[in-house]
Amino acid sequence: MVSQLFDISGKTALVTGGSRGIGLMIARGFVQNGAKVYISSRKAEACERAAAGLSKYGTCIPLAHDLGSMAEVKALAEDIKAREKKLDILVNNAGAAWAEPFETFSEEGWDKLMNVNLKAIFFLSQALLPELKAAGTADDPARIVNIGSIDGILQPQLESYAYSASKAAVHHLTHHLAKHLARDQINVNAIAPGPFETKMLAPVLATARKAIESSVPRGRIGEDDDMIGAAIFFCSRASSFITGQVLAVDGGIMAAAYMQQPL
Ligand SMILES: NC(=O)c1ccc[n+]([C@@H]2O[C@H](COP(=O)([O-])OP(=O)(O)OC[C@H]3O[C@@H](n4cnc5c(N)ncnc54)[C@H](OP(=O)(O)O)[C@@H]3O)[C@@H](O)[C@H]2O)c1
Repeated sequence: MVSQLFDISGKTALVTGGSRGIGLMIARGFVQNGAKVYISSRKAEACERAAAGLSKYGTCIPLAHDLGSMAEVKALAEDIKAREKKLDILVNNAGAAWAEPFETFSEEGWDKLMNVNLKAIFFLSQALLPELKAAGTADDPARIVNIGSIDGILQPQLESYAYSASKAAVHHLTHHLAKHLARDQINVNAIAPGPFETKMLAPVLATARKAIESSVPRGRIGEDDDMIGAAIFFCSRASSFITGQVLAVDGGIMAAAYMQQPL
């Protein structure tokens, strides 16, 4: 039955950066389909507000932590360990963007992005390994889903060097962790989103919405269900035999990357 294949009800998930944007889309999709979902973000109030909104549909618990610091990464893992013996799903979604001219690109921007976009993914996954191992079975492994970006595959126009490099590293880390963690019954995949309407993309959409939309073969910005569908696929039995993949959810941008202008 297709509904059983994509069933995530009864699973426990942590979605970092779940207070808004893509993380909130995924968290809502999970809660509405019967998962118990923890969301985290820096701002406690925003995190609590988002969890209260999602609690209309099921169980959503806020845990505010700044994943830019190792101490806070560990504290988030401890918060989960205090509440759960096993964790079926870890969605490493929290991320930030930063652009500056190459000539003056700051160490502050570089370090901030590498810490939250890359380092936190590695060390949060490491800290939660016992709980993920406890959840995974041969039939239905535990899941780590890393949110990368098509900017980690193609070269962006913006001077967002640390962002694109961090996302390329997330994709490669996904491959490497998948190879290593398969023996623990943990699948590791990544979603590489194209443009989605979030606070992160708002400044670009404000000035270049038409250009962005027309660069997408499907002719539009990504919507909530586009992201929810991919996330549920990667977290359900439907993808039990799929690990180490980077799935572009981008309306065809990757497919059109070779020649964008008609001959
Ligand atoms: N939107 C797009 O078009 C797009 C495209 C490709 C990839 N992505 C990726 O998708 C992910 C989500 O992005 P988004 O567009 O949804 O961005 P967003 O709207 O800015 O949301 C980012 C989320 O991460 C949290 N966050 C940021 N810094 C954090 C930190 N240091 N510690 C803990 N939480 C932190 C934010 O909450 P607080 O501010 O409260 O911390 C928020 O919940 C990111 O990894 C991004 O790179 C987005």
